Amino acid sequence: MSQLWRKKSISAFEADMKKSELKRVLGKWSLTAIGIGAIIGGGIFVLTGTAAHYHAGPALALSFVVAGIACIFAALCYAEFAAMLPVEGSAYAYAYGTVGELFAWLIGWGLILEYGMGAMTVAVSWSGYFNKLLKLFGLVLPSYLTNDPFSAGSFAINLPAFLIVWVVTSILVKGIKEAAGANNVIVVMKVAAVLFVIFVGVFSIVPENWVPFIPEATEIVGEGGKMHSAYGWGGIFGGAAAIFFAYIGFDAVSTQAGEAINPKKDIPFAIIASLLICTVLYIAVSLVLTGMINYKDIVGDALKAPVAAAFEKAGKPWAVFIITTAATVGLISVMMVMMLGQTRIFLGMAKDGLIPKFFKAIHPTFKTPYKSTILVGFVVSCVAALTPISLLGDMTSFGTLFAFAMVCGAVWLLRIREPNLPRGFRVPALPVIAVLGICTNLFLILNLNTLAQLLATAWLGVGLVVYFIYGKNHSNLNTES
Ligand code: ALA
Repeated sequence: MSQLWRKKSISAFEADMKKSELKRVLGKWSLTAIGIGAIIGGGIFVLTGTAAHYHAGPALALSFVVAGIACIFAALCYAEFAAMLPVEGSAYAYAYGTVGELFAWLIGWGLILEYGMGAMTVAVSWSGYFNKLLKLFGLVLPSYLTNDPFSAGSFAINLPAFLIVWVVTSILVKGIKEAAGANNVIVVMKVAAVLFVIFVGVFSIVPENWVPFIPEATEIVGEGGKMHSAYGWGGIFGGAAAIFFAYIGFDAVSTQAGEAINPKKDIPFAIIASLLICTVLYIAVSLVLTGMINYKDIVGDALKAPVAAAFEKAGKPWAVFIITTAATVGLISVMMVMMLGQTRIFLGMAKDGLIPKFFKAIHPTFKTPYKSTILVGFVVSCVAALTPISLLGDMTSFGTLFAFAMVCGAVWLLRIREPNLPRGFRVPALPVIAVLGICTNLFLILNLNTLAQLLATAWLGVGLVVYFIYGKNHSNLNTES
């Protein structure tokens, strides 16, 4: 039993950090920009349509408020950890240094859903916008090349999603540094696109679309053809779970600790600032979107690119062009952060001996974990080509919500166990915030699609088996102790 609670020592983390050759160049606003770049993506540009049509109706804005609150609790807890243990590896590393190996393993395993599946979801979102862009130029790909077989009901493969993953994979194998400049431009473009949606779209709002703001709860035919309850307050929570994906990414700031000038102060700042900025933007976009297009009319192709569809409906084809281009380019940076995050988590776990050495093999010239990056690219591209987006999105959210709940619990546990450790940032009213964080995040898990819940729980079960067969026996801590 004691093995399951063994911890990686702070000095071992410090030694790892010293070995790192990364340059400390990122200030608090650059870190905030990284957070915003990772957050704004497929969620706001794509899942808003599904959430409004199938769950919340015009009350989508309230779904964003609910999900935003759950994230704030988690963000505060992440901030306390990041200030105390400014190391790469995010929640996995925090848990390993503070709570114990099994806890860390489970978080790392859950983060695979967050980052790996997140990349798949964004790839499918990207495909939706890319097809839209092609259409604007008069090109239409056959539907069996732009769909997954489950949604199409016959042979089909989402070719654009498959190919874009390989583009990103090749960039990551060569090294993110080369892409960093382009990434900053993409972030500016994305934020500009969101502001554009808000400030241009506001003039095309038809207030009747907001009436009733919270439609009466009822049973409707869901995406898979099955009946499910929608609208009312239940629909708001269902919508919050469905769009929770849009908030994922602020935690990716914590993976940049090795490159931050003053990680203890600036990482907590950037985590909280990027989340707050995006929450405000998201609430505004969702109000504008449901005001421009009636949630009942978001069907068919509009579900794949709802923001563009709203501007089409408003008779602004030039705006459709601007948004479609910005979303198509902007989603690439989210995919990059997700896949980068995934390979960094694997790298951390492999360095600790919990997963095979394959995942820490570094390319002699490019200095990147190329084997793991190519494997991640392979899996992400194949699954993205063949799976419906809502299932992917919900499983990503499951992994993230699970990690968030665990982080909230871990911060609380550590306050009890090690009350005197120096903390650069302290979560206010701690037991309350941690309990609220655990409850809201678990509550959102319960509101996810049932199939996604089953698959993700099975995933965690497989994780436990792998830990007991491999991780526990190969951990570096075996030799150290
Ligand atoms: N929050 C990111 C997105 O919406 C993952 O694409």
